[in-house]
Amino acid sequence: MDANKARQFLEALKGMGIESYFFERKNELTFSALRKEVRACKRCPLAQTRTTVVFGEGNERADLVFVGEAPGEDEDAQGKPFVGRAGKFLDQMIERVGLSRKDVFICNVLKCRPPKNREPDPAEVEMCKGYLFAQLQLIRPKVICALGRHAYNTLMNVDARITKIRGQFTEYNGVKLLPTYHPSFLLRNQERVKEAYEDMEKLKEVLKIR
Ligand code: URA
Repeated sequence: MDANKARQFLEALKGMGIESYFFERKNELTFSALRKEVRACKRCPLAQTRTTVVFGEGNERADLVFVGEAPGEDEDAQGKPFVGRAGKFLDQMIERVGLSRKDVFICNVLKCRPPKNREPDPAEVEMCKGYLFAQLQLIRPKVICALGRHAYNTLMNVDARITKIRGQFTEYNGVKLLPTYHPSFLLRNQERVKEAYEDMEKLKEVLKIR
């Protein structure tokens, strides 16, 4: 981890109830401790409007993690990521990699639904991103696939347009990171699906799946 990334990571954990695990290394932070912490979170106003916290789900030792934007209505109701129409499409993308949902881990930048599915507010991302960083630190996957610009920009701490950077591998904390289009965007822009499927082929290659 380079110094800038380390600083960003530690800053993002401050006040989240989990920083002592990383600062003091007294106890190992476990996935279940983190889940408990996140489910009880009241750090931002979304805690007042959410129905359920959507921590994420899947294989906690996954080689591949998908990071989306924020829970929508269905996810908020069920407490699971990507269970609506976009989720069905994400399932197809995962199949293209030669994997299924249970093989990968799926989570979001925001763990709570923004009202009326509006875009995440930068202040909300600031308050929530430490949870994502901690999840990735615990899973330590081989590859991360950022679904859309919010996921990519949060992980890389930049403000890039997805059309400019999609399909190009970069690194997050020494882990390969591939940005691609968000499934909701693909539902609205079918002509881009081909590119997203090409990206899934790249993931397959990196993971050495036949
Ligand atoms: N869109 C997202 O970004 N995440 C979800 O969990 C569902 C839809």
